[in-house]
Amino acid sequence: MYTLESLQQLVSQCMKCPLHQGRTKTVFGVGNPKADILLVGEGPGHQEDIAGEPFVGPAGQLLTKAIEGIGMSRETVYIANIVKCRPPGNRNPLKEEMESCIPYLRWQVKLIRPKIILCLGSIAATNIIDPDFKITRQRGQWQEKKGIWIMATFHPSAVLRDETKKKPFWEDFKELKRKSEEILG
Ligand code: URA
Ligand code: SF4
Repeated sequence: MYTLESLQQLVSQCMKCPLHQGRTKTVFGVGNPKADILLVGEGPGHQEDIAGEPFVGPAGQLLTKAIEGIGMSRETVYIANIVKCRPPGNRNPLKEEMESCIPYLRWQVKLIRPKIILCLGSIAATNIIDPDFKITRQRGQWQEKKGIWIMATFHPSAVLRDETKKKPFWEDFKELKRKSEEILG
């Protein structure tokens, strides 16, 4: 049985997939180790790789604004990614890379025991909710799995690229707030 700290230590030395070759730092996760809400992205980008912290670049600034916009903070939730090392040139992580890395996220879920998981983008949603998940059609819909309520919204990078995703993205965050008030009180 790990603690979050011992798991982070293990991940920092991981060489289970080729992504370890290009990383500066592993990006384990940040936030409240007992958070009720876990947000999951795809994988570190350039700035995250340097900082060793998820969502600190431009997409991260938008995400932070959205979290704060519903009265929460980066310190009250927990933020992690499907893969802990940066894919070269910000390409999508490969299937084998995700398969190698996702056990770490599963351990994080076991240790943090969140009540709600928000998937940020289709990579997180296809790994966590359903391999056939269609983000445009199925975002904003809750599903319960093993006592955890799970929903997906657009990835903040996608929102930055496409203005039309802004409104549904904010609506999903409002729905996240509503759901958290409903089940957490
Ligand atoms: N995009 C992600 O999916 N995760 C990060 O940590 C940063 C950008
Ligand atoms: Fe290990 Fe995950 Fe990094 Fe691959 S991406 S080397 S599995 S920590």
